[in-house]
Amino acid sequence: MRKTMLLLVLCVPVCVCAQKFDGLALTPPMGWNTWNTFAANIKEDLVKETVEAMLVNGMQEAGYTYIVIDDAWEAKERDAQGNLVPDPNKFPSGMKALGDLLHERGFKFGIHNCAGTKTCSGYPGGRGHEFQDARSYASWGVDYLKYDWCEHGTANAEETYKTMRDALYTARRPVVFSLCEWGDNKPWLWGQKIGHLWRTTGDITACFDCVKDHGTYKDWGVLQILDKQEGLRKYAGPGHWNDPDMLEVGNGMAVNEDRAHFSMWCMLAAPLMAGNDVRKMTKETLAILTNKEAIAVDQDPLGVQGFQYSAKDKMEVWFKPLSDGAWAMCVLNRTPRVQKFRFDWKGEAVADSFSKREARFDTTAYTVRDLWQKKDLGKTDIIFSGDVAAQDAILLRLSPAK
Ligand code: GLA
Repeated sequence: MRKTMLLLVLCVPVCVCAQKFDGLALTPPMGWNTWNTFAANIKEDLVKETVEAMLVNGMQEAGYTYIVIDDAWEAKERDAQGNLVPDPNKFPSGMKALGDLLHERGFKFGIHNCAGTKTCSGYPGGRGHEFQDARSYASWGVDYLKYDWCEHGTANAEETYKTMRDALYTARRPVVFSLCEWGDNKPWLWGQKIGHLWRTTGDITACFDCVKDHGTYKDWGVLQILDKQEGLRKYAGPGHWNDPDMLEVGNGMAVNEDRAHFSMWCMLAAPLMAGNDVRKMTKETLAILTNKEAIAVDQDPLGVQGFQYSAKDKMEVWFKPLSDGAWAMCVLNRTPRVQKFRFDWKGEAVADSFSKREARFDTTAYTVRDLWQKKDLGKTDIIFSGDVAAQDAILLRLSPAK
């Protein structure tokens, strides 16, 4: 009897229960992506030069780890066995060699493909090849997959992304899975078990306050994307992030606009994917991208997305609870005019029911540090007042005074 039981137990098939890889994105992923500046004009040398620049200019040290090769790295057709292959002119050494190089230089390797039959630039998509592609990615050393949503036909988004999640898990190489579904099917409602981040909107464009209408689709400015994040903060947390799209810092906006963009992405606990040409950028752009204290707001281990506390005359005040009882605060001036800002701490009640955190300025004094000026401004026992430049932001860290 016992023997039969034992045999039965031994014969139960082992279930490789599909799931996403846990513990990979406990803070929002950071890195650099080819798309915003280079689009389809990418090649091996560009990636090599970029990582060398990031090693020297402090970006790697600041936390930009994932180097993501976006659309158009592939040959136009799969090979005779149906495998994805890189364009031999753009990536003559192949993707395994590229992955090795990135790993040797201390980076992680990210790649793009699409849940549909073709990518948005017309290269082979993953549909129907998910398990085969996941094996290729594993063999190349891929650590991050951005999975797009062009040419999806009538496919169900949740099921389609789940298939790729299962394929990645089955291939056994831990991969951060970025659902680039543009928010079309509310991925925040189902993405947590499938991926580590999900796009909440269509594509960003390097413009502070505009919409670029291309007829069949639109590109969105910084403020337009910011406004689309309303109501989504409760879906974000360690391991699963809202993704308001990559950074446009250094891509043509004014320095103040770049600073406001970066400040707000930090307040949103957004993935920070630089999208500029880091081989030749201004010192202002580099200073924004590598501001460690601003990045620490984004990367705070509490992992709570910030919220809008007040809005008046297109001046917004945002708060983000941080670990150790601290807070980040951002004052965003959406207008093209300088505006005065005055904040009498003691009369303000900042309470966040989501994180169950409260800032009691009437009973606790906080030290105030300006993260762009890199200057301590005193404590919350004196009224804060100053100018906020046009289309700019003040970013503060409030720490309970000892
Ligand atoms: C979509 C994505 C972009 C980029 C392009 C590539 O538009 O949202 O981020 O990956 O595809 O074609």
